[in-house]
Amino acid sequence: SFEDPVTAPRPHPYTIAHRGLSAHAPENTLAAVRAAQRIGCQWVELDVQLLGDGTPVIWHDNGVRRCSNSRGKLIKLDLAKAKTLDVGSWFSDAFRGERMATLEEMLELIGELGLGLNLELKVNRGRDAQALVDAALPMALKALPAKQLVVSSFNSQALEAARDLQPDVDLLRLGLLYEKPPRQWLTEAERLKAYSLHVDWRRLKEKRAREIKEAGYQLLCYTANDPVAFARLWPWGVDGVISDDPSLFTYHLPMP
Ligand code: G3P
Ligand code: CA
Repeated sequence: SFEDPVTAPRPHPYTIAHRGLSAHAPENTLAAVRAAQRIGCQWVELDVQLLGDGTPVIWHDNGVRRCSNSRGKLIKLDLAKAKTLDVGSWFSDAFRGERMATLEEMLELIGELGLGLNLELKVNRGRDAQALVDAALPMALKALPAKQLVVSSFNSQALEAARDLQPDVDLLRLGLLYEKPPRQWLTEAERLKAYSLHVDWRRLKEKRAREIKEAGYQLLCYTANDPVAFARLWPWGVDGVISDDPSLFTYHLPMP
């Protein structure tokens, strides 16, 4: 029988490909974003930070050892040097020669593919939150419509700087990243005029999840790669998951 799509149970959480489709391609690369789009993802999550010369690039770690054929700190590289790194072959030979993406290159691709972007302002140890926001945020706001962008961070200075740069909630959606939302999460969310909370699904409790939803915020869980374990959280009102492989959730989530 026909079910009204408005009142029908939600079939699955909406999904965001974590660092691109990082289960199947080298994380935070153009290739990982193309791969996400190919399997039907509508949103990707990516990390942004600055090179030593101030160029915003898509990168997660403080150093380059784990995800390239080189070693050393990201801050020691300028763009010319960063572009000599192979950031694909550590993952598999099929991605040999993949280059580190600048934020600018990545925004262009995301615009072309029509994807949504959850851009995480990644303030690694000792790095300047304000400088990152000043370099990355205007570029992202210019490249994508406001509804296609959620800017998140664990770093409250970065979130404050972002909100100062664009005070209008309709023009900048901010996501508060927490391993575990603290008791004062609502004060933080109100102060920063947040759009969403992004929490580690293993640390989320039902009471907190329901509070967040009752207060009207989007609730996303990271990094969810186990749909069977995640199913316990689904009835609490979680909206979406940030996953290394979103296809796990669109096809295999057992319903409560
Ligand atoms: O944005 C969610 C998740 O990416 C945060 O943790 O370490 O993967 O950047 P991490
Ligand atoms: Ca991230």
